[in-house]
Amino acid sequence: MTRKKLLLFLVAVVIIVGSGAFLLSAYSRPRVAQQPIRFSHKIHAEDFKIACEYCHSYARRAAVAGIPSVQRCMGCHKITAADKPEIQKLQNHWNQKQPIQWVKVTSMPDFVFFEHWPHIRAGVKCQTCHGSIETMEETLQVKPLNMSECLACHRKEKVSIDCVTCHR
Ligand code: HEC
Ligand code: HEC
Ligand code: HEC
Ligand code: HEC
Ligand code: HEC
Repeated sequence: MTRKKLLLFLVAVVIIVGSGAFLLSAYSRPRVAQQPIRFSHKIHAEDFKIACEYCHSYARRAAVAGIPSVQRCMGCHKITAADKPEIQKLQNHWNQKQPIQWVKVTSMPDFVFFEHWPHIRAGVKCQTCHGSIETMEETLQVKPLNMSECLACHRKEKVSIDCVTCHR
C-alpha cells in the first residue's frame, strides 16, 4: 500500500468506527414515551412533595404499584390549574368517563415474576430500581433492570436467589 492509500484507509476506519459509536449511543439513550397528558413527576413529587404511594397506592400490598385513576387526579385538579390546557384534557377524560391510556415505561419480560410489595415492606426505596423519578419532567426508565441487579441485591440482603423465586 502506498502512503496515500494507507492514509485514506485510516481515515475511512475512523469515520466508520466513529459513526458506529454515534449510532450506538443514539440507540442506547433512554427514550421518552409520548404520554397523552404531559404529567411531570418533578412538579408533583418534588415541588409539591406528594408521596409516591399517594398515587401508586398498591405498591405496599400488591404485585403492581398501580397508576392513579382520573378521579385521583381530579381530587386536586377540579380546582388546581383548572384553566391550563393540559388540565382541560384531564377534565375531558373525567367528563367522558374515559381512562387515560398512559404509555408504559418500565417492563419485565413475561417469564419474570416480580412483585412490589415484598420490596416496599422490606424498605427498598422506589429510586433504587426506578432512578430519581422525582426529578423527571417526563418519566423514563434510566437503566435497564436486569437479572444481575436483582441477584446482586438479593445476595446482599440474603433473599432467595433460587431460579424459581423469579422464574415460575
Ligand atoms: C426492587 C425493584 C423495585 C422497587 C423497589 C420498586 N419498583 Fe416499581 N417496578 C419494578 C419493576 C421490575 C417493574 C416492572 C414490572 C413488570 O413489568 O411486571 C416496576 C413497575 C412499576 C410501575 C408500573 C407498573 C405497575 O406496577 O403499576 C410503577 C407505577 C412503579 N413500578 C412504581 C413504583 C413505586 C412508586 C415504587 C416505590 C413505592 C416502586 N415502584 C418500587 C421494580 C421496582
Ligand atoms: C395532591 C394534589 C394533586 C394531585 C392528586 C394531582 N396533581 Fe397535578 N398538579 C398539582 C399541583 C399543585 C400542580 C401545580 C399547579 C401550578 O403550577 O399552578 C399540578 C400540575 C399539574 C400539571 C401541569 C399543569 C400546567 O401548569 O400546565 C398537569 C398536567 C397535572 N398536574 C396533571 C395531573 C395528573 C394527570 C394527575 C393524576 C395522575 C395529577 N395531576 C394529580 C396537584 C396535584
Ligand atoms: C400525583 C400522582 C403521582 C405521584 C405523586 C407520583 N407518580 Fe409516578 N406516575 C404517575 C402517573 C400518572 C404515571 C404515568 C405517566 C408517566 O409515566 O409519567 C406515573 C408513572 C410512574 C412510573 C412509570 C410506570 C411505568 O409506566 O412503567 C414510575 C416508575 C413511577 N411513576 C414512580 C413514581 C415514584 C418513585 C414516585 C415518588 C417519587 C411517584 N411515581 C410519584 C403519577 C404519580
Ligand atoms: C435493592 C434490593 C433488591 C433488588 C434490586 C431486587 N430485590 Fe427482590 N427482594 C429484595 C428484598 C429485601 C426482598 C424481601 C425479602 C423478604 O421479605 O424477606 C425481596 C423479595 C423478592 C421476591 C419475593 C421473594 C420470596 O421469597 O417470595 C421476589 C419474587 C423478588 N424479590 C424478585 C425480584 C426481581 C425479579 C428483581 C429484579 C427485577 C428484584 N427482586 C430486585 C431486595 C431486592
Ligand atoms: C432475583 C430474581 C432472579 C433470579 C433469582 C433469577 N433470575 Fe433469571 N432473570 C431475572 C430477570 C429480571 C430477567 C430479565 C432481565 C434480563 O434478561 O436480565 C431474567 C432473565 C433470565 C434469562 C433470560 C436471559 C436473556 O438474556 O434473555 C434466563 C435464561 C434466566 N433469567 C435464567 C435464570 C436461572 C437459570 C436462574 C437460577 C440460577 C435465574 N435466572 C434466577 C431475574 C432473576
